[in-house]
Amino acid sequence: MKISAQEFARRRKALMALMEPGSIAIVPSAKMVVRSRDSEYSFRQDSDFFYLTGFDEPNAVLALLPGRDNGEVVMFCQDRDPAMEQWTGYRAGPEGACSTYGADDAFPIGDIDDILPGLLEGRQRVYYAMGKHADFDQQVMHWVNVIRSKVRSGAIPPGEFLDLDHYLHDMRLFKSAAEQKIMRRAGEISAAAHCRAMRFCQPGVFEYQLEAEILHEFAMAGARFPAYSSIVGAGKNACVLHYIDNRDQIKDGDLVLIDAGCEFNGYAADITRTFPANGRFSPEQKAIYDIVLAAQKAAIAETRPGNHWNQPHDATVRVITEGLVSLGILQGDVNELIASEAYRPFYMHRAGHWLGMDVHDVGDYKVGGEWRVLEEGMVTTVEPGIYINHDDQRVDPKWRGIGIRIEDDVVLTKDGCEVLTADVPKETADIEALMAEACVA
Ligand code: GLY
Ligand code: MN
Ligand code: MN
Repeated sequence: MKISAQEFARRRKALMALMEPGSIAIVPSAKMVVRSRDSEYSFRQDSDFFYLTGFDEPNAVLALLPGRDNGEVVMFCQDRDPAMEQWTGYRAGPEGACSTYGADDAFPIGDIDDILPGLLEGRQRVYYAMGKHADFDQQVMHWVNVIRSKVRSGAIPPGEFLDLDHYLHDMRLFKSAAEQKIMRRAGEISAAAHCRAMRFCQPGVFEYQLEAEILHEFAMAGARFPAYSSIVGAGKNACVLHYIDNRDQIKDGDLVLIDAGCEFNGYAADITRTFPANGRFSPEQKAIYDIVLAAQKAAIAETRPGNHWNQPHDATVRVITEGLVSLGILQGDVNELIASEAYRPFYMHRAGHWLGMDVHDVGDYKVGGEWRVLEEGMVTTVEPGIYINHDDQRVDPKWRGIGIRIEDDVVLTKDGCEVLTADVPKETADIEALMAEACVA
């Protein structure tokens, strides 16, 4: 279940078709990052670079030159080196970049300073994501200056720098059938991991032990890494939106919020579930939970082509505000409370974000100043929440310390949406049944 070489080639062609005539695009790979002295973080390829190449090595650069006679796709990469490969593993080398990854021409990365100025020369426009990689920015400027220094010999330096993200990220926003298949699998693996954590949970276990259950399920399914640091927060920790310390012991009566998703073949899943540590929701927990669940369902119902990006969010705001009024946590007229954003102390984030190769994926949310219209093939999360701080004096003590978020991933279909993460229960009765099953076993 991988993206085919043909699809990578189609992406490059599609991008080149959008580029202005006489232009070049330059896309660098990610770099290795030191974690401590000689030990490095696991390598994660830059999403833009991977989207266009499928090439998973550091120290590489892609140049796209639409219309170039000697080949439009040029790659620079690490040379083959048996001594280095003995230590750090196989390299494709320039030959592999052509034979396996579809480059028309490829060179050792060590030769880039000699070759790239020649490729830039005569190209009027350079598409490059300036400001993201400080060292590489300087290198690009150096190449341009090499050409500028030769103008008296007739060299023509580029006159314009353009943002590549605009075109590339709009392409990434729409997921192909192959991408959707991978994301469906990422959703299934992540759902199974949440079920596993729910089954394992009981008062007395530590947050990091639930994280370990999640990571085990990911890795056993071939998804070695999470798409982001897993959030496992029990009790008041559930009210900290991006709590990743995951170090406390879970108590009887706590709610446990887990926000975790795997990265599978380069694509992210992003699921949140909230469940009672002891397997039974208290009446107060259930009351708040059911409001969040109703808000989430209302938002999913609004996630369909033709609606604009904000409609699902607006639906969550209405349901949550009505719910907080019905419980007496907010008082007043619902429309006025929505207008004054009275819900914000309890619901302070948006209802979703694009999802894809990056967990907070690329793609504009507004176009021409207006919220974007939803279209088939987009993938978004739907994730409302209510968080009542443990020391919030405005609220009756019985509600304090309850933090709940429910998050699913959905792909826009022709006339609605498909939930990619439906395999993990979210009705309170279904969660309780799953946890009870585990106790019997
Ligand atoms: N896991 C981060 C988020 O839900 O946006
Ligand atoms: Mn999440
Ligand atoms: Mn999310």
